Amino acid sequence: MRRIVAVMCVLAMPVVCTAQAGAKFPPDTLTNVKVIPHATPVINVIGTMRNFTSYLGVRCQYCHVGNEGQPLNQFDFVSDEKRTKVVAREMMLMVQEINRRLDTLPVGMGAKLQVTCNTCHRGTTRPVPLATLIVDAGTAAGADSAVRAYRGLRERYYGRDAYDFGEGSLNTAAFRLGGAKKFDEAFAVLKLNEELYPNSSGMSVFRGNISLMKADTVAAEAAFREAVKRDPNNQEAKGRLQAIGKQP
Ligand code: HEC
Ligand code: HEC
Repeated sequence: MRRIVAVMCVLAMPVVCTAQAGAKFPPDTLTNVKVIPHATPVINVIGTMRNFTSYLGVRCQYCHVGNEGQPLNQFDFVSDEKRTKVVAREMMLMVQEINRRLDTLPVGMGAKLQVTCNTCHRGTTRPVPLATLIVDAGTAAGADSAVRAYRGLRERYYGRDAYDFGEGSLNTAAFRLGGAKKFDEAFAVLKLNEELYPNSSGMSVFRGNISLMKADTVAAEAAFREAVKRDPNNQEAKGRLQAIGKQP
């Protein structure tokens, strides 16, 4: 038997067979699975796991104990040490629950509806609006951090089906930061947006509205006037000027 295993190793799985004693990838059996049924063939589990990595845009070590570049047989896939693995397990249960409910919905014209991690995640670990991530960064760590967060996310995800890098996201982020009286952060974010989308009339209205939150009517008037200059048909900007007692 040993001999047969050894021969198979050479032929089929040389990487696995260079492992130290005890460590083996893929494992023969499942040890610590609470959502995946125990009898599931390991090969199918590995397939599910590969899907997770592409759905979330990560590698195995995002959820499992192990390092980049380390052979998989040295990973500890059994351990529940990482918070992300524990969250992922909850997410698996949630997806099962959603799909159970979808089965009973009269939608889809007979086609089977199936939710996966990717329905929400689309290659990211945090499937939330981009504005939320920028507001979080600005609130937690200031203007530079908000700008850095945006640039980093844009670098990584632009052109993917992940986050909306259109003009609206940073306007929304700036507006929310202004609402939380984080004015430096709000204006830093608008400045970045202005670089990316110069001469937007709508963005000038945002600038004016945030200036009003700051009770800076001089800056607000200038911003609303700039909006009208950029687009003479911007009725919202004209309305805002009237609202603060200025002739449009
Ligand atoms: C998003 C998080 C996540 C990623 C990424 C991920 N896994 Fe997992 N993995 C889990 C969870 C959660 C379980 C436990 C499932 C359960 O409890 O039913 C698990 C279980 C396993 C198991 C079974 C361990 C045991 O207890 O027997 C193996 C093997 C495994 N993963 C391999 C991988 C490999 C290989 C990769 C990379 C290709 C990977 N995983 C990527 C979350 C992840
Ligand atoms: C219905 C939408 C939805 C589905 C489906 C979904 N997730 Fe999530 N997931 C979320 C949201 C929302 C968050 C929290 C994002 C945030 O605010 O950080 C999240 C967070 C996570 C996190 C924690 C990220 C972190 O860094 O804190 C993991 C891990 C994760 N999901 C894994 C999965 C896996 C694996 C699946 C498929 C089995 C899945 N999710 C399916 C919406 C979803």
